[in-house]
Amino acid sequence: MTPLIEVAGIGKSYGSVHALREVSTVVNAGEVTCVLGDNGAGKSTLIKILAGVHQHDTGELRVGGEPVRFSSPRDALDHGIATVYQDLAVVPLMSVWRNFFLGSEPTIGFGPLRLLDRGRGRRVTKQALAELGIDLRDVEQPVGTLSGGERQCVAIARAVHFGAKVLILDEPTAALGVKQAGIVLRHVAQARDRGLGVVLITHNPHHAYPVGDRFLLLNRGAPLGTYEKSEIDLGELTRQMAGGAELAALEHELRSVET
Ligand SMILES: Nc1ncnc2c1ncn2[C@@H]1O[C@H](COP(=O)(O)OP(=O)(O)OP(=O)(O)O)[C@@H](O)[C@H]1O
Ligand SMILES: [Mg+2]
Repeated sequence: MTPLIEVAGIGKSYGSVHALREVSTVVNAGEVTCVLGDNGAGKSTLIKILAGVHQHDTGELRVGGEPVRFSSPRDALDHGIATVYQDLAVVPLMSVWRNFFLGSEPTIGFGPLRLLDRGRGRRVTKQALAELGIDLRDVEQPVGTLSGGERQCVAIARAVHFGAKVLILDEPTAALGVKQAGIVLRHVAQARDRGLGVVLITHNPHHAYPVGDRFLLLNRGAPLGTYEKSEIDLGELTRQMAGGAELAALEHELRSVET
């Protein structure tokens, strides 16, 4: 089966800053590819290339086997790649259902007599949310009144509903408590089970490990390792993230502080 996305030795510089060097990975339908790394590792740069915000300087990006170079986020979306940014492109004072459609609301009538079909908009939104097991009391409430986790869930449901093939999430659980992070991760798993290829960016190996099929670790723009789930356990993933020896030393230090 051809991967949905293949990243082959991609590099990107911002002036003299090498943000990415020789990074490779794949995104398959029905799988979650996790991108892990510390601040400044190049995670957002990688997803911005996949999302059509930036272009790579070296290497090749293939979508459905074809080399591509996206000219804009719209271009990436037209290739079925939907991206949910951490700061979410939502309008806080607008209702949940208007945000769900954001510019493609259903209407009734023609030309200047066209009106928003509020009833249908509300029904479709409620239904799409319900299909992912998200139960919002009122889709007429402003998005600004939702919790961070609920907003992420609405954004995921939107991508699924509008037929995205690839869903990219940049640190969707970073600002969330344990329970809400769990709920968002459950929706990530549901999107995967519906056959989407998911790219999950996170700092947290405990969030990545349960849902991930593949782990790409970045360190200052360079790949530190790529593992299939069968090749690594949570403990080792955590150690790799923390830079192995450094963490062992830290653990030792902390233990001697306790005693
Ligand atoms: N638009 C830009 N112009 C110049 N340098 C940039 C730009 N965007 C990112 N960088 C630099 O590229 C490197 C990688 O940044 P990137 O945002 O991809 O990291 P990240 O892994 O997403 O970090 P974080 O976890 O903090 O979000 C950093 O050194 C950063 O300063
Ligand atoms: Mg980032």
